[in-house]
Amino acid sequence: MARFSELRAPCLLLLVFLLYSSLRLQLSQGLKQRRVYIVYLGERQHEDVSLVTSLHHDLLTSVLGSKEAALESIVHSYRYGFSGFSAMLTESQARKIQTLPGVVSVKENTMVRMHTTRSWDFLGLSMGVDIKQEQQPNELLAAANHGDGMIIGVIDSGVWPESQSFADDGYGPPPSKWKGTCQAGANFSAHDCNRKLIGARWYAGPDIDRRFLQGDFLSARDSHGHGTHTASTAGGNVVHNTSFFGLAAGTARGGAPRARIAVYKACWGTCSTASVLKGIDHAIHDGVDVLSLSLGSTDEMAALGTLGAVTRGIPVIMAAGNDGPTEQTVQNSSPWLLTVAATTVDRSFLTVITLGNNRQFVAQSMYVADKGGDEFSQLLYYFNDRCDPDYINSTDIHGKVVFCYTPGPGSVSAPPKYADIAATVRRNGGKGFIFSQNNLDSLDLYAIKGPALPCVPLDFKTSYQIAVYCNRIGIPKIKISTTRTTSGSEVVAPRIAAFSSRGPSPIYHGVLKPDIAAPGVYILAAAAQTGAYKSLGVSYVFDSGTSMACPHISGIVALLKSVHPDWSPAALKSALMTTAHTMDSHGVPIEANGNRAKIADPFDYGAGSVNPTKAADPGLIYDISASDYLEFFNCPQGFGSNNNCTPPDLNLPSIAIPGLKTSVTVVRTVTNVGQPNAVYKAFLEPPRGVKMAVEPAVLVFSNARRVQSFNVTFRATRRIQGSYTFGSLAWHDGGAHLVRIPIAVRVVIEELYSDAS
Ligand SMILES: *[C@@H]1O[C@H](CO)[C@@H](O)[C@H](O)[C@H]1NC(C)=O
Ligand SMILES: *[C@@H]1O[C@H](CO)[C@@H](O)[C@H](O)[C@H]1NC(C)=O
Ligand SMILES: *[C@@H]1O[C@H](CO)[C@@H](O)[C@H](O)[C@H]1NC(C)=O
Ligand SMILES: *[C@@H]1O[C@H](CO)[C@@H](O)[C@H](O)[C@H]1NC(C)=O
Repeated sequence: MARFSELRAPCLLLLVFLLYSSLRLQLSQGLKQRRVYIVYLGERQHEDVSLVTSLHHDLLTSVLGSKEAALESIVHSYRYGFSGFSAMLTESQARKIQTLPGVVSVKENTMVRMHTTRSWDFLGLSMGVDIKQEQQPNELLAAANHGDGMIIGVIDSGVWPESQSFADDGYGPPPSKWKGTCQAGANFSAHDCNRKLIGARWYAGPDIDRRFLQGDFLSARDSHGHGTHTASTAGGNVVHNTSFFGLAAGTARGGAPRARIAVYKACWGTCSTASVLKGIDHAIHDGVDVLSLSLGSTDEMAALGTLGAVTRGIPVIMAAGNDGPTEQTVQNSSPWLLTVAATTVDRSFLTVITLGNNRQFVAQSMYVADKGGDEFSQLLYYFNDRCDPDYINSTDIHGKVVFCYTPGPGSVSAPPKYADIAATVRRNGGKGFIFSQNNLDSLDLYAIKGPALPCVPLDFKTSYQIAVYCNRIGIPKIKISTTRTTSGSEVVAPRIAAFSSRGPSPIYHGVLKPDIAAPGVYILAAAAQTGAYKSLGVSYVFDSGTSMACPHISGIVALLKSVHPDWSPAALKSALMTTAHTMDSHGVPIEANGNRAKIADPFDYGAGSVNPTKAADPGLIYDISASDYLEFFNCPQGFGSNNNCTPPDLNLPSIAIPGLKTSVTVVRTVTNVGQPNAVYKAFLEPPRGVKMAVEPAVLVFSNARRVQSFNVTFRATRRIQGSYTFGSLAWHDGGAHLVRIPIAVRVVIEELYSDAS
């Protein structure tokens, strides 16, 4: 749940961290202590899965001494995507297993973090059903029959099955390939699945901290809300007239609204890799078409399972993480994944602030007053250190608006403190809270606790002017208007969200990540009826994070796969990437939010912002075979058995060269999936400081020549220890097809050179 991904998040993150650290502490007490280990045996060698399982048992029995001990120790057996198991072992048992023949790796289990109404029309995927929006129904949606026949697997915190987003009116029986199940549990019976929500499984083994289980339903029922939100974004049904207290009113639906959904609950506040792997393994067995995982961790251990899904034709979409705008924070960067960054949409939530001297400022918040919202209140000004929850609690703020101004360093990312202050203001009868903050795309963080209290972040320039006003006037006053939703071309969008994790990948230097960007800021989607959502009585809530961007791509992939059932996961990914936008709706380069807004580059958004309609007809695709992915996986980076090989250069729809000394030639191969007779010309945008050439520069396709290779040569024009610069290579057929891939090159003198100082 990156803001898994959790952006909702800084607080949650802290909680998870504390629980996790205390868990680690407990575990480290005593070497005899057993922990969960993941034993990886590579590709499965037997067609018969019962043979695979007994192999796992035999292997464990040989180390633990008895069949009983083996059965007691095993947590999950993985049989469909790869061969392996997780088990409770002491450190010495784990070491012993590592030495057995056939064992590729043994690693301790890790914990993984969990990281809409408007977004679909913004992406041009309008259904033409919302009377208020006059768009025509979209061709891709129509051609894909809204994703009918597709099954989207969602590995997350479960589902709230009663949500209208999972209603099955008008649905036929599940597709015949479906082999999954509806696993009953607490407050969740087998009847809670239906023809829309066709499957549910959950994993509550010894790899999950008991404290997490206690506060949750021991079933696929979602107490967290993350899984319900992401599943409804990927494949939720069409639900009219949704809003969050009137904000963002419209029709909520998933990207593939007629797709079926299967949920795999592996997250209980936090997710365990051993459970995530079991969810993937089940999903492969059950027959899902697309896998959506809004979660991640820096160790990339889920790669063991995602590889098995992708090599079996199931595209896997994962969230990039919410640790931006810092560079080298992207997660889930295995080359077979579609790694998704988050953007804003063309919608804003405007709130007008009026000072006692009648000066007005326009800001953003999610403030829905039950009444009024148009009276002046006294404004209390807290500067720097005074802007502290305890200090503010010690002052009389009843009926007043609290203003925090904290200029200077250290004030940039303060949401946890600000969330505490908002709680203090709410508890003590304050009328509102305004505060200086860089743009963090985090309004919903304050709204979810109750949108009747205005919480308004302000930039430092506006904050300064309000501070000056406070200092000049004996009793400063302020009025905060209720929020008005605006959407459409007046809002500059998309922009890369400040929190969206950035490349380059710290693990795979030669793989450009993230791959693509999709809406992930203030996404309205289905809510679980627990906690704050229940007490607010809302069925649709805002959430932000790459967790919300990921299921947007999952829904789109389901549509594409329905139109092109023969395309491989790599082909689907290529189609999305080569057609992505790098310009906004005004034809201006897309910007990235952060400490300072800037023009976005491939480390912010990969190939760009997704353009679903174009992706259905990309012209050319960069395909990759399952065996190439396997060769890449088995080679380096700690998973494979062979540490002395160079990973193959995969035919990715992007090029990353982390260490260009003099010159490098990269080979790529494209397959024509458009008109058989076509002529494509190369258009180059070389990265700064690099000369770039393509050979041949014209590709002629015919019925007989559908596949063509070309060389791209990069030559450094200077001898420097440089930083990354960006460019692109586009093939254009003179008509509708512009097949563009992003390029990142770093010119170096020394290849292994740490940039930190
Ligand atoms: C879950 O089931 C228990 C026992 O039937 C019941 O007491 C409880 O209210 C249920 N919780 C929810 C949220 O439905
Ligand atoms: C949505 O709500 C409005 C007003 O409450 C109503 O007129 C309209 O018929 C509703 N639309 C649908 C599709 O339910
Ligand atoms: C706030 O102040 C009141 C009274 O001064 C005190 O009782 C309460 O514990 C304080 N709350 C917090 C969260 O510090
Ligand atoms: C690409 O480069 C290789 C060697 O660098 C060469 O053998 C091959 O012919 C080139 N291919 C094309 C299409 O120019």
